[in-house]
Amino acid sequence: MSRNLTGIRHLEKEQIDELVALSKEFKARILAGKDLPQIKNKVTGMLFFENSTRTRVSFEQAAYYLGMKTASFTGSGSSMSKGETLKDTILTLRNERLDGLVMRHKMSGAPSLAAKFFGGPVVNAGDGQHEHPTQALGDALTILERKGRIDGLVVAIVGDVAHSRVARSNAWLLSKLGAEVRFVGPRTLIPSETSMLPGTVNYDLKPGIQGADVVMCLRLQKERMTQGMLSSVVEYASMYQINKETLRWASRDCVVMHPGPLNRGVELDDGAADSDRSAILSQVENGVFVRTATLHWVFQESLPAKGKSKGVSEKKGKSK
Ligand code: CP
Repeated sequence: MSRNLTGIRHLEKEQIDELVALSKEFKARILAGKDLPQIKNKVTGMLFFENSTRTRVSFEQAAYYLGMKTASFTGSGSSMSKGETLKDTILTLRNERLDGLVMRHKMSGAPSLAAKFFGGPVVNAGDGQHEHPTQALGDALTILERKGRIDGLVVAIVGDVAHSRVARSNAWLLSKLGAEVRFVGPRTLIPSETSMLPGTVNYDLKPGIQGADVVMCLRLQKERMTQGMLSSVVEYASMYQINKETLRWASRDCVVMHPGPLNRGVELDDGAADSDRSAILSQVENGVFVRTATLHWVFQESLPAKGKSKGVSEKKGKSK
């Protein structure tokens, strides 16, 4: 049986705890220059059909730490640009003997489709407006490091909730771990479907972030917006920007987060992005550790019982 990570929504709390604990353990070992368990003789396809900096590089780093090889793949440089379907592409990669896939795609549900046809470990690296599970895991690790807990915290997720897979994965994860989640933003960017997510809605910034322990800004995803969703970026910033003035409404020691890439001067200003309260670069760094843990987690399960000791070696580690 292979194990996939296509989203947070269907994970049990115990599985999230396990992944976060493994991430912490791997972080400590990597920072101490110690070896990690090695997954030998496995090749993972890095399928990025949408642009990425953080997620793509951190998965490459994760594979390196685990001693795995990667095969890079982008839509524009592949036979998909000649009309090949996603299904046929996935079947082709399976028959080229790749052992697992990490996949980013603009279509919600694409990694689940890939898992169906590939039949091996598949990790969702962000699909459309659906989920970005490893981003949420890295954010959870960052909050735990800054706050010591997630249970009982108030987390305000501010901005373009409508188009955000980060908002969805974080809402599921944080609520499963006991946080109070609030969605904050203009009506056009808070979809009615949000009523099915675990969280309350505020259309005004002040009550939305009042007393919040964590303020998580979201990027305005103009590439996914239809006309009429936003009157102007300047107006959006005047009403929803996180800065020194608006942060006075949040808890005094609140943590400012953003998954990146940032639109500086829009979702938040330089003062908020670069302040001591900002955890943005910690989020980036923790992305490496949670993705290392995730690859280990999905591949461990896919190895046959005897193969676990054969494929995963504790001795021949590699550190940077
Ligand atoms: N947060 C995030 O997914 O960033 P990238 O698009 O750069 O991977």
